[in-house]
Amino acid sequence: MTDQSITPAGEERDYDEYRVIQDLGGWKRSHHCNQLTSANLGEEVTLMGWVQFRRDHGGLIFIDLRDREGLTQTVFSPEVAPEAHERAHAIRIEYVCALRGIVRARPEGMANPNMNTGEIEVYVTDWKLLNTSDTPPFPIEDRVDAAEMLRLKYRYLDLRRPRLAKNFILRNKAAQSVRRYLDSLGFLEIETPVLTKSTPEGARDFLVPSRMSQGMFYALPQSPQIFKQLLMVAGLDRYFQIVKCFRDEDLRADRQPEFTQIDIEMSFPDEEQVMGMAEGLVRTLFAETIDARLPEAFPRMTYKQAMDEYGVDKPDVRFELRLSDVKDIFAGGGFKVFANAPCLKAMRVPGGLELSRKEIDDYTEFVKIYGAQGLAWIKVKEDGEWQSPIVKFFSDDEKAKLAERLGMVPGDIVFFQAAPEDVTNASLGNLRLKLGERFGLIDEKAFAPLWVTDFPLLEYDPEDKRWVAKHHPFTSPQPGQMDTIASDPAGALARAYDLVLNGSEIGGGSIRIHTPAAQKAMFQALGIDEAEAEEKFGFLIEALKFGAPPHGGIAFGLDRIIMILTGAKSIRDVIAFPKTQKATCLMTDAPNIVGRKQLRELGIQLREKAQDTAADGKKNEA
Ligand code: AMO
Ligand code: AMP
Repeated sequence: MTDQSITPAGEERDYDEYRVIQDLGGWKRSHHCNQLTSANLGEEVTLMGWVQFRRDHGGLIFIDLRDREGLTQTVFSPEVAPEAHERAHAIRIEYVCALRGIVRARPEGMANPNMNTGEIEVYVTDWKLLNTSDTPPFPIEDRVDAAEMLRLKYRYLDLRRPRLAKNFILRNKAAQSVRRYLDSLGFLEIETPVLTKSTPEGARDFLVPSRMSQGMFYALPQSPQIFKQLLMVAGLDRYFQIVKCFRDEDLRADRQPEFTQIDIEMSFPDEEQVMGMAEGLVRTLFAETIDARLPEAFPRMTYKQAMDEYGVDKPDVRFELRLSDVKDIFAGGGFKVFANAPCLKAMRVPGGLELSRKEIDDYTEFVKIYGAQGLAWIKVKEDGEWQSPIVKFFSDDEKAKLAERLGMVPGDIVFFQAAPEDVTNASLGNLRLKLGERFGLIDEKAFAPLWVTDFPLLEYDPEDKRWVAKHHPFTSPQPGQMDTIASDPAGALARAYDLVLNGSEIGGGSIRIHTPAAQKAMFQALGIDEAEAEEKFGFLIEALKFGAPPHGGIAFGLDRIIMILTGAKSIRDVIAFPKTQKATCLMTDAPNIVGRKQLRELGIQLREKAQDTAADGKKNEA
């Protein structure tokens, strides 16, 4: 049990602060708090850290001292050190102490096998109070109940929790491993600007107003894409950077508005070289951080196969469930929902017979998130009979073909989705993940990397009513397709590749366009006219004219990789100071209103509504 007693105000508190020392008086830390074992018995040690836990028996006082590495149990005894013991009554939770003492074995039967330091305790001979602490707004323990909002406000306290601290120790290890690996292959770590030019790359930009050029804006980079290409034009041959990227998009469990990429570019490569280098990086990273062995060659799948069989472009291949196209079986048949469907797919789930009506109803609600109208199903009972609200509409021929195509056996449930292709795929693809969890099909310890290749070069944006680049407009089409992108935009494939790990897209890249003519043709296919191309990308086209080498690369989402390495469920657990779903920082209160003077200097006047909203908030007059 944790002692959370508050230091009473007044005298006792003054007494504490009187004893807070301003310097360490020559004391030096000898060990961290997760270090001492029976090998250290009898040694005099000095530990410094925070008070995790305090038990005051009047006789012995026990203090668990914590630092980033872990905990050590310490004991204050009136027999061993009466003066140190007497002063120790004032120690409270989260006080910062320097303790000096002798390492002893814990008494018979008192060892704690769950702690690295569980065999020993330190008998304190002297100690210094380095600082007091207010009672923390939530107990600093790995088992947390406190609301995440509160923990984000006091992020520095939440980060004291060893389980969270552990993520950053691992993140550091990962970053060092990446640097060593890339350095060994001749990649140069080069920084690129943060104040840069707004260029379309899919997401919305964060803009920064310029004071010196009023009415103009920098954009924060969504990625260093163009700069890394220019470094190849510059002849620097191999570049990498562990770099912040900024995207003003809707946030999810694995998405933050500012996140970190391991950004890589190389000259004169083909796909095989980039992918081989990337596989080596991921294998090395997993081996050096968590001692996990990944396969020697990562499996590959085309985008088409991924969408056809998994419904998503980042399949989780740790488990088997697949989607099957059954449109041909029901075309022109008696069940109109199926007969008229633009796309009809089925998913057979072995063992699904046990699903309750309520569970099926919940799944039906779930797929509606993805635009589905309903969710049809057939259960195959133990006696082989089909139970379903829809089979009464099927002909015997349809039933026979369906059973054969899917290999239906007793105990199965089959789910169907009839809808436009994107809705069918998203509904069943995401239902597949839910069912994988429901039936325990996912081996949580497994790592299943997968390259997804042969992406379409372009995709149609129904909102803007034009073709847009699926990856980005600097991605090269596959050989021989440059000439057909205008005539057959849907058919062109890209020299692009994504790396998927356990159903998470951890990286993506491509071989780039490296001639000005091809780059211009690409902009044209995207409906970007010459004037706009010149205005937005003139500097890139210009650079391509001066002997740009063939080049290509990839960027990994470092935060997502750390999530997988640590098993974190939220990307916030691997970012020291993350933003909320609304892209705010609860600790610093960013974003905030700025004073009129500051705005005037920037030549900015807020619209009345925005001004009111800001005025309702806190004042920050300059
Ligand atoms: P892309 O846009 O695919 O490619 O990004 C590369 C990787 O970055 C990660 N990622 C994110 N992680 C957290 N929060 C986000 N909002 C977020 N957005 C992306 C993903 C993704 O795979 N310049 C190209 C790369 C290239 O072509 O070399 C690029 O940025 O893991
Ligand atoms: P209804 O004909 O609307 O009573 O639907 C019969 C069954 O088909 C119900 O289980 C519905 O959930 C399901 N269903 C309805 N529309 C679709 C659809 N577009 N795709 C798959 N199943 C559907």
